Amino acid sequence: MRVTIGQLREMKEKGEKIVMLTAYDYATAKLVDEADVPLILVGDSLGMVVLGYENTIPVTMEEMLHHTRAVVRGTQHALVVGDMPFMTYHISVTDALRNAGRFIQEGGAQAVKLEGGRGMAETVRQIVSCGIPVMGHIGLTPQSVHQLGGHRVQGRTPEAALKLIEDAQALEEAGAFAIVFESVPAPLAKLITQKVAVPTIDIGAGKDCDGQVQVISDLLGLYTDFVPRHAKQYAKLADIIRGAVADYSAEVKAGSFPTPKHGYTMDESLLAGLKKRPKAAPPGKA
Ligand code: KIV
Repeated sequence: MRVTIGQLREMKEKGEKIVMLTAYDYATAKLVDEADVPLILVGDSLGMVVLGYENTIPVTMEEMLHHTRAVVRGTQHALVVGDMPFMTYHISVTDALRNAGRFIQEGGAQAVKLEGGRGMAETVRQIVSCGIPVMGHIGLTPQSVHQLGGHRVQGRTPEAALKLIEDAQALEEAGAFAIVFESVPAPLAKLITQKVAVPTIDIGAGKDCDGQVQVISDLLGLYTDFVPRHAKQYAKLADIIRGAVADYSAEVKAGSFPTPKHGYTMDESLLAGLKKRPKAAPPGKA
């Protein structure tokens, strides 16, 4: 049985912290699921950490669906959230419904996430009314990076702080089942967490949110182009990979890999017979 949005709400009520991680492929998702992580986001961060784009803006629906399907195949218990890419929910509510539906029908996800507060509330309401759970995302919303003037902390002025409170309340009222706060001052995230009944999930918004999310490539030390302040590296996979590739390369060049145990043998007499066989005549000359 997969985790439900009701169980996440109960976790908030009981004060149990919610662990959330991104995943983008079958093998990683399987390991994350086996570690009992209840919430997996197929984030559009895959544009940067998997596909090598400069930001999340070029990510397409087809790319998201491709990776969502892989993550769903790797998981049995986690609730999988598909991140709606830039311009797949902005043009019209009809468009948003169609694309949210594709994440569920074609991707196999159990929920979708979209960026934006009050301005997206009606879209959230409509998607939820189709039976699709929606996770909100406010504060630093990377799809608006050009409007925000970069990846910077949000909610530091009185107006901006008030707007974030209103955004969270509008999303809750529209039926969002959880809200991600990205790069928001910790005391403000704490205040909003107390004001809304739905779980709040932190990424650069402090420990008083109901849960935490990390980009798995940051957590594993795999993506090294840029390490955000809110990321903690629990491993240094980039160093391990570099070392393994260097060792492999050196052994191939030295002729010490492969060894007989990495290959297959055959019957000696069969081989001897094959060696003795006369050369076959070219086709048409027989
Ligand atoms: O795309 C993503 O990985 C995200 C998380 C950072 C919340 O939106």
